[in-house]
Amino acid sequence: MGKCATGMGLKSRVQFGVALAAMILTVSACAVQEKVASTSPAPQKVAASSTAAAVETIKDEDLGLSKSSVYDVPIPDAVEFKGGDPGVNALIGKSYFTAPPMIPHSTKDMTPITRDFNLCKDCHVQPTMIGQKIDPGVPVPAPVSHYVSVEKGEFYMGRWNCTQCHREQANVDVLVQSTFKKP
Ligand code: HEC
Ligand code: HEC
Repeated sequence: MGKCATGMGLKSRVQFGVALAAMILTVSACAVQEKVASTSPAPQKVAASSTAAAVETIKDEDLGLSKSSVYDVPIPDAVEFKGGDPGVNALIGKSYFTAPPMIPHSTKDMTPITRDFNLCKDCHVQPTMIGQKIDPGVPVPAPVSHYVSVEKGEFYMGRWNCTQCHREQANVDVLVQSTFKKP
């Protein structure tokens, strides 16, 4: 080893020492500043949360659209659907292009639709009737969109549950009025 192990002369060792001391001073000064910065907003936060607790809370009965408490299980009024037996009703038509048409007739004893029970299908899944002139009182055939293959008469099972999209009409008091207007 040489006489100067660090490779620095005395002058440069002094300079280094001064620089180091200056750095330590700066760092500790910053730390103090930071400490002040991090502690000073804390009392404000406490004040803010104690104000929030004083704000009035929302009551159970104001949480939903129902006018009763959220813990009640209100029984809705029975809905009376309009429409006579199939064959005597005027078509309602679609609300807009691509909308499923409403069911104009009663669906009494036709629901719930199950895997083995689907009266809708018996009357409406008539692939050979698609494109034919349909006289009033005759079931309107389910359209091409409802088939995997019209030629093979293969109905698309994703459309099995007809009432998922098609519904009959009823006079009901709705909780929120619709603003929809037929375009
Ligand atoms: C006994 C046969 C029969 C059954 C069962 C039946 N329908 Fe109909 N459906 C008709 C007839 C007939 C019409 C034409 C309107 C009328 O005369 O009532 C019609 C009309 C419709 C229309 C209107 C089509 C349009 O273009 O506006 C829809 C939708 C419909 N039915 C869906 C259903 C659904 C869903 C079911 C099962 C819940 C069902 N139908 C069960 C015979 C039937
Ligand atoms: C996923 C929703 C959906 C399901 C499920 C569905 N439909 Fe439809 N249906 C529609 C839509 C949307 C239309 C109108 C647009 C079109 O032609 O595809 C329509 C049209 C019809 C029409 C009118 C055809 C015409 O020419 O005016 C009949 C009838 C019909 N569907 C019967 C049925 C029957 C019966 C079932 C069950 C076996 C059924 N649909 C299941 C959405 C559905």
